[in-house]
Amino acid sequence: MDPEQLQLGFERQIAAASDLGALDAVRVAALGKAGDVTALLKTLGAMTPDQRTTEGPKINALREAVTSAIAARRVALENDGLDRRLATERVDLSLPSPELPQGSVHPVSQVMDELTEIFADLGFAVAEGPEIEDDWHNFSALNIPETHPARAMHDTFYIAGEGEPRVLRTHTSPVQIRTMMAEQPPIRIIAPGRVYRSDSDSTHTPMFHQIEGLVIDRKIHMGHLKWTLETFLKAFFERDDIVLRLRPSYFPFTEPSAEVDVGWSIEKGRRVVGGSQGWMEVLGSGMVHPRVIANCGLDPDEWQGFAFGTGVDRLAMLKYGMDDLRAFFDGDLRWIKHYGFSFLEVPTLSGGVGA
Ligand code: PHE
Repeated sequence: MDPEQLQLGFERQIAAASDLGALDAVRVAALGKAGDVTALLKTLGAMTPDQRTTEGPKINALREAVTSAIAARRVALENDGLDRRLATERVDLSLPSPELPQGSVHPVSQVMDELTEIFADLGFAVAEGPEIEDDWHNFSALNIPETHPARAMHDTFYIAGEGEPRVLRTHTSPVQIRTMMAEQPPIRIIAPGRVYRSDSDSTHTPMFHQIEGLVIDRKIHMGHLKWTLETFLKAFFERDDIVLRLRPSYFPFTEPSAEVDVGWSIEKGRRVVGGSQGWMEVLGSGMVHPRVIANCGLDPDEWQGFAFGTGVDRLAMLKYGMDDLRAFFDGDLRWIKHYGFSFLEVPTLSGGVGA
């Protein structure tokens, strides 16, 4: 067996191997235990030193040539296979989808996404808490003691059971407590979610949505609160002529407290947000009460902050012009088809947070 002849023969077979299986058969025939190249290598042992000096390099060169030819062919076959798969598995993205997407995004979800987008841009994270709360987080820690009339104000749903009383949270403010207990300041969060009060008319439903905001840091003051609310409301209503009016108010968990009104005006016979022909209340807010900060284990001499809370459903009504809150939760397909959003209308600050 002449090494050069063998090499030519194997190179031809390697080039002719049309798949990885055929290539492997060539490999076995050449380099396997009973392969021709292996057999040639074995003859080296019986050679005289002189023969070995002349034949050794030829046989080794043969082995290397066959080995690298197989490796190169394997790479080529694998690439061919990939090319073929890419060609057959190609997806035509221009094809219309077989069915138009059904369903739509509820205005409450859409507005929550808008608010999240706006506050994310201001450096706020999203926090969550349970809808079934204990009395301490929903009331006591927020400086609303058992005997406080504010407890009655909230028309609370109590949950029957033993141990500490549990309630359906009456506001998102308990998320303030949960966040301050779990994280070290500085804190900047919003907490959107469901809240519950035993109340029902055209502007109240037993379940509705709030969004809470909380900032805790050093040297925070009312100016930061006012700037944040103004920036958020301008971005949300997509108007620069948003005018705010802060009215002194009372919440047990903030001191001082302010209710925030936003100015409205009449445009084409419709009442719209912007200008200052009249006022409507949109937010509760204030500086976090030092006692609330202390209840969460933080030193109120070191840390201050502001908080605000507002109704998401109400913001949606104001922005998108619905007038009956109850329709939000009726599940009437005609309403949701009219007021719902496409899942492709993802609010972004660059693309616009409105529809
Ligand atoms: N939790 C209050 C409410 O439900 C709103 C609020 C939140 C007020 C935070 C001040 C600060 O009415």
